[in-house]
Amino acid sequence: MAEQILIDSSVSKAEKYKQLLPQIRALMDKNVHLTANLANIAAALKYGMNFFWVGFYLVNNEELVLGPFQGPVACTRIGYGKGVCGTAWQQQATLVVADVEKFPGHIACSTDSRSEIVVPVIKNDEVLMVLDVDSEYLAAFDSTDQRYLEELAGIIADLA
Ligand code: SME
Repeated sequence: MAEQILIDSSVSKAEKYKQLLPQIRALMDKNVHLTANLANIAAALKYGMNFFWVGFYLVNNEELVLGPFQGPVACTRIGYGKGVCGTAWQQQATLVVADVEKFPGHIACSTDSRSEIVVPVIKNDEVLMVLDVDSEYLAAFDSTDQRYLEELAGIIADLA
């Protein structure tokens, strides 16, 4: 098992993801509960990418329930179609929000959050959870984040 996540801070965002994803793959353990793997992914993303908030909301009946995360305390329950997370679940699609104040129904867990990306983890056409990343800066996320976080969502779907 890798002892720590090592990322070269001087390289581009795409390069950071390229360094990070193999390390996350190596960290994954198919023999433990999914929660343990999600917890390590949240920590790897937080410390590898220096995200403000990163974590999982897990589908539980008619709502999303807070799962493993790193960052400030967060809302525990989000309804289907509510907020950015519940909308990504409903649409089964990644949402990149450049300015959370302009997203109708955005749920402000932290007033410091300015932009957000939410990536659903889909297995057999069913959303199992969403990966949510928040930034304290406007327009922090783009197609590079979408590409690599969707790749990560695929790794998670294989574990689930
Ligand atoms: N902003 C999210 C809620 C989760 S927090 O950002 C951690 C939303 O609108 O769904």
